[in-house]
Amino acid sequence: MPMRPRVWVSRPTFDDVIARLQPHFEVRAESVETKFGPAELAAKLADCDAAIVGLKERVGAAELAGAKRLRIVANLAVGHDNLDLAALGAAGIAASNTADVLNESVADYAWALLLGASRRMGAAERWLRAGHWHTTEFKGWLGTDVRGRTLGILGMGRIGQAIARRAQGFGMPVLYHNRSRLPEAVERECHARLVDKTTLLCESDCLMLVLPLTPETRHAIGAAELAQMKPAAVLVNVARGGIVDDAALAAALREGRLAAAGLDVFEGEPRVHPDLLALDNVLLSPHIASATTDTRRAMTTVAVDNVLAFFGHGPHAGHPPNLLNPEALALAGVTFPTHPKLT
Ligand code: GLV
Repeated sequence: MPMRPRVWVSRPTFDDVIARLQPHFEVRAESVETKFGPAELAAKLADCDAAIVGLKERVGAAELAGAKRLRIVANLAVGHDNLDLAALGAAGIAASNTADVLNESVADYAWALLLGASRRMGAAERWLRAGHWHTTEFKGWLGTDVRGRTLGILGMGRIGQAIARRAQGFGMPVLYHNRSRLPEAVERECHARLVDKTTLLCESDCLMLVLPLTPETRHAIGAAELAQMKPAAVLVNVARGGIVDDAALAAALREGRLAAAGLDVFEGEPRVHPDLLALDNVLLSPHIASATTDTRRAMTTVAVDNVLAFFGHGPHAGHPPNLLNPEALALAGVTFPTHPKLT
């Protein structure tokens, strides 16, 4: 029997979804959450033809140096700042992500953070659990309404648009700033108006960050940008740690230059800046905006579909649906659907 290609799955995920690989691959799926160091990751990648990895796996040139059999890395995330696409492309290795299937869950979660931070839900829950309820005051726990306030969205991709659509329910006008203007029909559907970044910062009462982390967007919100925001504003980050300068944000929150923040992502995760941990006007969560059962299953399905497709199997045989580097693959002479099956 010809040898089947081997796929490595770096995180425990949904076994029944991963089982779809079994007829075509030798599947090596981790059964315990593990933080692989660079050398361990390099060894894992050197030993497989396909890899399904999570955000904790940082795949760069060094990790790929010995990965002579590797053909595709499927990321279990839409963001892919953990993958060095240039290094993957140069090695003729495909990369894919899980775009689209998580838009609605992440948009819901961004709103949960906005509402939770505006209404002080994290601090109130801690206070209740600490047994202080009997001391409550009529004027205690006053938060801010979001209804009718101006929502700003920095990064108006598909998740940003899903967030904007929800704003109608809260009667909120929507401003956005993005690399490019959305088609008019989409702007109309989202009731959103393009503005420059300064206007977005100055006019937003609630600012949601939904842009990818790149060298250009690192610290897109730093001390200077925070200084432009309204002191009563609430900031939400469901995008990536590093887009916000967490130390500058903590200082603004502490000094009352910003009312509140809801953060799902942090610089240097899983570490959280100690100044943020010390504040009550910030609602914190451990990078879980896409974490619903349906959405995490869908993300696993997309990763599996991409690997299957790359090797000529499954519903998208020969056409991996979420390729991130098709041009680099074409340059490297990797073609679909005639890519030779590794046997
Ligand atoms: C999560 O952060 C993702 O990019 O999917």
